[in-house]
Amino acid sequence: MSAVKVGIIGGSGLDDPQLLENRQEKSVTTPFGKPSDVLITGTIKGVSCVLLARHGRRHNIQPTDVNYRANVWAMRQEGCTHLVVTTACGSLQENFHPGDIVLLDDFIDRTTKRKQTFYDGSSEAHVGISHVPMNEPFCPRLRQLIGSCVSSLGYSFHDRGTMVTIEGPRFSTRAESRLWRQWKADVVNMSTVPEVVLAKEAGLLYASMALVTDYDSWREDHEAVHVELAMKTFKENAEKACSVLLKAIPQIAQEDWQADIQKNTDIAASSIMK
Ligand code: ADE
Repeated sequence: MSAVKVGIIGGSGLDDPQLLENRQEKSVTTPFGKPSDVLITGTIKGVSCVLLARHGRRHNIQPTDVNYRANVWAMRQEGCTHLVVTTACGSLQENFHPGDIVLLDDFIDRTTKRKQTFYDGSSEAHVGISHVPMNEPFCPRLRQLIGSCVSSLGYSFHDRGTMVTIEGPRFSTRAESRLWRQWKADVVNMSTVPEVVLAKEAGLLYASMALVTDYDSWREDHEAVHVELAMKTFKENAEKACSVLLKAIPQIAQEDWQADIQKNTDIAASSIMK
């Protein structure tokens, strides 16, 4: 059985280093520049983990300006096999409520200004063009494992969900929010794309725990999203996501992921045209 190392990318408010034992800060750089902040290496119940604050520990990097390529590549460089991430999001459906956890299984990309590939000629280690398949962006096995942990903790959750990622930094208009609903998206955020795409190119097993903080702008009988509301709900629920990570990570380490890692590595390699 091969060793597991879990990278954790924490969204706004869920990047608490206290999560890790034997913590050490590590400043790294990558062929794509510097990640959002130092990496915090350490362990969770004996399992090696690497923690990174997506927007920086001071939350000073807006979604468009996050160096997603450096963040994902730094995790890969550190030897991570898995990436488990958290993100705040708005609900687009009546049955997705603030406080719910959503284990994403698909996305719709409404970003416009982000680099989505390592293979753009800027790195000597990434030669060619990558056309990575996106029919299964999130690792179904990892999603299932995390889902069973969320369920056993008694939290309200959805075992699947489609995320629409907008460019931001502004929130959606009412008309946009209604459009995402018509497209059958379940939740909306500003960071799943391109992170999940780059994880696939890097051959990492990726799962995202999206935490619903608001009803975006479509619901006229509820307060429309604003920063204070999203942050308040996120803080109130961040403890849940931490409990899930503390339960899921030791379980991840007990399983054999060799075949899944190989499959993802093969998909990434066979997507490159030279
Ligand atoms: N993050 C949290 N709530 C959001 C929303 N409604 N739209 C985009 N990103 C969000």
